[in-house]
Amino acid sequence: MKKDVMLVTGAGQLSMAIARRIGFGKKIILGDKKKENAETIAKIMNDVGFDVVPVEMDLSNRESILALIAEGQKYGEIRMLVNGAGVSPSQAPIEAILKVDLYGTAVLLEEVGKIIAEGGAGVTISSQSGWRMPALTAEQDELLATTPTEELLSLPMLQPENIRDTLHAYQMAKRCNEKRVMAESVKWGERGARLNDIAPGIIVTPLAIDEFNGPRGDFYKNMFAKCPAGRPGTADEVANVAELLMGPSGAFITGSTILIDGGATASYFYGPLKPEQ
Ligand SMILES: NC(=O)c1ccc[n+]([C@@H]2O[C@H](COP(=O)([O-])OP(=O)(O)OC[C@H]3O[C@@H](n4cnc5c(N)ncnc54)[C@H](O)[C@@H]3O)[C@@H](O)[C@H]2O)c1
Repeated sequence: MKKDVMLVTGAGQLSMAIARRIGFGKKIILGDKKKENAETIAKIMNDVGFDVVPVEMDLSNRESILALIAEGQKYGEIRMLVNGAGVSPSQAPIEAILKVDLYGTAVLLEEVGKIIAEGGAGVTISSQSGWRMPALTAEQDELLATTPTEELLSLPMLQPENIRDTLHAYQMAKRCNEKRVMAESVKWGERGARLNDIAPGIIVTPLAIDEFNGPRGDFYKNMFAKCPAGRPGTADEVANVAELLMGPSGAFITGSTILIDGGATASYFYGPLKPEQ
């Protein structure tokens, strides 16, 4: 019997939690730049009854994205997409953050949007970081949403003189993810499919632990201590949101970003996390 295919990028903890929640009974194609990461997660999941094929892929490269899609199509129609690949501000330089998190995500949403099955659903992972930057202008938002993918990295707002540091690059990339999801969801809708975005706050994963131990470690620890929830989140809590967005209960949700941050953003604007002027 042919199975529905679920493409997953990034063999990290968020991807795995989501794939375990909604991927049972599907053929899961799991791509990661580090093949060993994909193989490790595939083994964990295959050992408990999932059907995962690990693949080496680079989210920052269109050919590699097309190869991931082609691999999936060998098994059947692609009905689900989970984009959990990414690099954080402490892991990569500005150029890599923009190439992977901003450009790569935009290309992936575009290419999967050309072939997604009717009734299909996708979710990409942005970040609360995209919510704490001051608002961009309406024109900048529209440029991030609709500029053709191959021209995105040439936008003046993304040039080195306009990007302060890796955190700023990450915030711009994640803001762009939200805008791309809005614009792409219109095209996905023409195929009868939905596309949404999850913006997590601090979720305990190896990526977050790199941040706790990085130059902004104290900043992050203070953030979860002073947010309304008073703790970081877990990957399984992110999977709860993905389950809603990807499943029948989320049938009226598309083009949307759901913030799941224990209230850190609320506190940043209106509570104890508000920066001193
Ligand atoms: N963990 C958090 O607190 C948190 C918070 C907000 C947003 N996020 C976002 O969630 C996503 C996943 O984070 P995670 O915590 O699961 O991280 P993780 O480090 O556990 O997993 C990320 C995976 O992406 C892979 N990857 C990196 N660059 C790639 C590329 N070019 N092509 C393919 N794969 C690549 C890495 O090898 C790694 O296996 C990222 O986009 C991150 O920005 C995480």
